[in-house]
This record gives sequence, structure tokens and C-alpha cells, in this order.
Amino acid sequence: TKSISVGLLGLGTVGSGVVKIIENHQDKLSHQVGCPVEVKKVVVKDIDKKRDVEISEDKLTTNVEDVLHNAEIDVVIEVMGGVEETRDYILTALRNKKHVVTANKDLMAVYGSELLTVASENNCDLFYEASVAGGIPILRGLADGLASDRITKMMGIVNGTTNFILTKMTKEGSAYDEVLKEAQDLGYAEADPTSDVGGLDAARKMAILATLGFSMKIDLDDVRVQGITEVTEEDLQYSKQLGYTMKLIGYAHRDGDNVEVSVQPTLLADTHPLASVSDEYNAVYVYGEAVGETMFYGPGAGSLPTATAVVSDLVGVMKNMRLGVNGKSAVTPQYPKQLKAEDE
Ligand code: NAP
Ligand code: HSE
Repeated sequence: TKSISVGLLGLGTVGSGVVKIIENHQDKLSHQVGCPVEVKKVVVKDIDKKRDVEISEDKLTTNVEDVLHNAEIDVVIEVMGGVEETRDYILTALRNKKHVVTANKDLMAVYGSELLTVASENNCDLFYEASVAGGIPILRGLADGLASDRITKMMGIVNGTTNFILTKMTKEGSAYDEVLKEAQDLGYAEADPTSDVGGLDAARKMAILATLGFSMKIDLDDVRVQGITEVTEEDLQYSKQLGYTMKLIGYAHRDGDNVEVSVQPTLLADTHPLASVSDEYNAVYVYGEAVGETMFYGPGAGSLPTATAVVSDLVGVMKNMRLGVNGKSAVTPQYPKQLKAEDE
């Protein structure tokens, strides 16, 4: 049987996890889709860099064209980050009839709607589960598992770096700079961690969640954002003494056509379910009119958890290839058209 060929853009924290999972779980992947899966080409910035994953040298390239215009490649996995240039790469891949999986929330929060339209015009899948809450299948949970319900509220911890920092500062009295460095070393933080600590990373994720959950296009500019940079060790210790835990909370509420989305440091009573979500873990509480309260919980950042979401999206693409329904699948977490008041 012909194998499915993957072109990887990026071989950092997430990309190396993707290579490992494709290799180590090959039996499960090929069993589900009926053929082997092969990483054919990997685009990196520095070819000589020491990697923590084994990859044959002839697969590495610094030329993105080796993936985007490579007729042998069926699926492009984008785990390099960036926005404007990366948007062009993904548009080119889709127009060249390559399915795309991305972990890039910076990109999806701004250009998601455009990219998904181009994907569907080209009968291609564009999946982005890993862009929100790392290893937690929250987008499929909203788009598929809760597809029949009207979601009115979501509240959660959607940034692993800041949760790691706040947890260590609160429980161990660690210094902010040291814990941020630790989060960077563990691969949780963004290349530029100001988007983590400033709340922008969480805001991007909340815009994606609210768009999908509320079936309305929510722009990043619609999200009120405050990060954790002004939270002091004293604030955390004092809150702890009073029986509260400080968390960076993303909040989204819909009331008819009115939507409120925000990210801000919030004091939660120690008994609140989100107060016990520690380290790099994320959790999202989702309220639906019919289902009531649900909670999604799991690792929100890091190599293998994030790569699990990426490779599961790859499996989704491959299953659709088998059925010939790429770009049309009911479980595809697509940005819907803006709901009109009369639709309500
Ligand atoms: P990373 O460790 O910095 O890796 C980025 C990779 O992309 C590196 O291999 C780098 O090459 C390559 N790269 C960057 N710019 C490039 C360019 N212009 N041309 C060619 N190659 C380029 O980043 P990461 O943590 O894996 O994150 C990747 C993406 O996943 C980002 O969009 C991030 O927001 C998202 N994400 C990350 C996590 C996480 O926990 N880390 C979780 C969810 C989503 P070199 O190796 O040669 O430098
Ligand atoms: N920097 C992000 C975080 C990675 O810490 O949550 C996962 O999206």
C-alpha cells in the first residue's frame, strides 16, 4: 500500500515530539488508516543544530519549497510558529492540494477564517487541535462532542507557562524570573515568552474557543487582556493565607448576540475546581444549555502532549483521505459563519 507522506515545517519542541510519535506509534497509526505514515522532509532554520530526535540528514532542509512544492507530500504539518510568512506557506500548501495540520494559535486567531475557507475551496483539511490547550482535545470536544448544544460560557486555564509560574511561585515561593526560565527550558513557553506572561497567548486561544464554541467570529481585538507580569510574590502569598489561589483565567460568555471574552489574573477560592489545576496543566470549563457543566483537563503544553494532538489531527486527515471527504468532514472543527440574530 502507498504510504502517506508528511512534510514537517519545524523540528523544535513540538516537531520533535511529532517525529517521535509517528515513529513510536506507527503500528497504531497505520492500523487505523491502512498504510504506513512517513515523514519525508523536515524544514528547519539551522541544519547543523543538535536535535533530541533522530532524523536522517537527507530529510532536513532549510528550503520550504522542498515541502510546499513537493508532489510526493500529502500532508504539511506546521510547527514552526510565526504569522505572516507562515500564512503564505499554508496558503501555498493548500492551493497545492496538501492537507495542513498546525499548532499555531497566533496564526489561527488572526487568519483562521481565511485559511479554513481556502482549505475547503481546495477540498483540503486544515486541523488545528494543538493550537488550544496542548494535549486536551477541546476543539473536537466543542465542534464534535458538543455539536448539538448551545454553549453559553467557557472559563479556564489555557496557558501552561503562566500556570507553571503561578504554581511554583505560590507553592514553592520560587522567584518569577527563575520559574519563567524553567518553563522555557521545559519547552512550555513561546519563542517570545512575552505573549505568555502578557496574556496574549491565552487571549488568542480564547478567541479561537469562543469562535468555535459560540458559532460567532470573535476577533482577537475583542478580547480584554491582562497578563501576570504585575502579580507579585507578596500577592500570591497573601492570597494563599486567605484561602485563595491566583490563576490566569480566560473567560467567555455569550448572551444572545452579546459576547464578552477576557483574560486576567483571578483569585479563586481554594475549593474551586480550577484552583487545583497545577503546573503546566490546563483545564476548560464549558457550560452548554442542554448538557450543563463539562470540564476538559490535561497537559496544556510540552513536546509529547502537544504532538499527540498534532498527530491525532494527522490521523483525522488520513481517515478523511481514505473516505475521500477531506474539507467536508462533519467533525472538522471549522470556523462557522457569523450567526445572525434571526438564526437564534
Ligand atoms: P520551537 O521549539 O521554537 O521550534 C520551532 C522550529 O521551527 C525549530 O525547529 C526551528 O528551526 C523552526 N523554524 C522556526 N522559524 C523557521 C523559519 N523561518 N524557517 C525554517 N524553520 C524555522 O517552537 P515549538 O515550541 O515547537 O512551537 C512550535 C509551534 O507550536 C508554535 O506555533 C507554538 O505556538 C505552537 N505550540 C507550542 C506548544 C509548546 O508546548 N511548545 C504547545 C502548543 C502549540 P531550528 O530548530 O533550526 O531553530
Ligand atoms: N506557550 C504555550 C503555553 C504553549 O504555555 O500554554 C501551549 O500553547
